[in-house]
Amino acid sequence: MKIKALYAGSFDPLTKGHYDIIQRASKICDELVVGVIVNPQKKPYFHIQKRKELIEGATKEFDNVKVESFSGLLADYVNDNGFNVVVRGLRNGQDFENEIPMAQLNAKLYNNQVETIFLMTSPEHAFISSSMVREVAQLNGNVKELVPANIYEELKKL
Ligand code: COA
Repeated sequence: MKIKALYAGSFDPLTKGHYDIIQRASKICDELVVGVIVNPQKKPYFHIQKRKELIEGATKEFDNVKVESFSGLLADYVNDNGFNVVVRGLRNGQDFENEIPMAQLNAKLYNNQVETIFLMTSPEHAFISSSMVREVAQLNGNVKELVPANIYEELKKL
């Protein structure tokens, strides 16, 4: 069976932690879609179209990676678009605690037709989050080591 996987998130912006998950997930999936979501609980920093373009730029070397955007319920997007795997990254115990109930609830919404798989974030990226990147960048701190090069260039312009 071919693996068509979704890696969803706000990616505001994509960090090296996300990039690491994409790189590793792309090796175990036939097709990986990075799904950029409008999260109504978060105020966006980059417009959704810009986030999508930046991720396309950062991941262009991967032939089996595509970038899409969506809104609404994750499970609806997964069910409606023929995904059979959802990829999530785990940085620490707190992520684990948050992810387990979400994966269990989603499993019901997927009618048990889709597996959520977890990749452990590489230790050198475990402390990174998009909000920390935004905060440091806004205060003119150096985020070069935290984000892919094209995103670093974009953050420098702001
Ligand atoms: N490396 C670096 N940072 C990471 C990371 C990794 N491997 N994994 C997660 N993060 C960071 C993200 O950058 C984000 O940081 P921020 O809060 O500072 O912006 C934070 O961890 C949370 O990431 P994530 O859990 O992926 O949240 P999200 O908002 O990016 O996306 C969805 C979460 C898309 C899965 C969730 O909002 C969703 O499913 N929404 C749709 C509505 C829905 O279906 N709800 C019911 C869910 S059961």
